[in-house]
Formats: sequence, structure tokens, C-alpha cells
Amino acid sequence: MTFVMPDGSRREVDAQPGETLLAIAQRHGIAELEGACEGAMACSTCHVVVETEWFSKIPEPSEDEDDMLDFAYGLALTSRLGCQIEFKPELDGLVVRVPSQRFNALLD
Ligand code: FES
Repeated sequence: MTFVMPDGSRREVDAQPGETLLAIAQRHGIAELEGACEGAMACSTCHVVVETEWFSKIPEPSEDEDDMLDFAYGLALTSRLGCQIEFKPELDGLVVRVPSQRFNALLD
């Protein structure tokens, strides 16, 4: 899968089924996806914008995820929390964009 970084560069990384996008990013040292609450849906620092063509292949967000996304900077129609998306074989080739700004509800 590929993370498109805030500067436009692309990081193509390997991903294992069952890993969240946040865990994948952390394993590859992508610090821009901070994950301050470690997946507790309390920060929105794992906000990613899913490329449109992939969005429908990802299960819908829970109400709690939707609520936390309301705090994310640069919210888009295909915004999701990286800690809530589990990679699966059907997502091979997935592309998500890492927004340039993040909101940490734990701090701000
Ligand atoms: S890591 Fe905090 S909401 Fe995803």
C-alpha cells in the first residue's frame, strides 16, 4: 500500500492482513501519522484521506469514528481514522493521503 505524504512524496510499504493503517505506518517509521491515543479513538492524529477509488472497499466507519473525525483538520469526504482501518488482501494497492495538519484532541 502507499502513503502519500504531506509534501506529495509517496511511501510504498508492505502491509499484513489484520494490521491497522496506523500500525503499518508506525512499523515503517511514518511519524506524520502520530496515533497519539494508540487507537482509542480519542485524538484523530491518525487521520488519513483515502483515495476515492478505494473508499468503497473499506467497511463503513462506526459512529464513534465519525464523531472523532469531526475534529480532524482538512476533513474530506473520504476521510478515515487510520487506527480503525484493518488491512486485508482486497486492499492490496491501497492509497491514502496523510494530511499536512493534524488535530490532537488529547492536547488541543
Ligand atoms: S490513534 Fe487516536 S484516533 Fe486513531
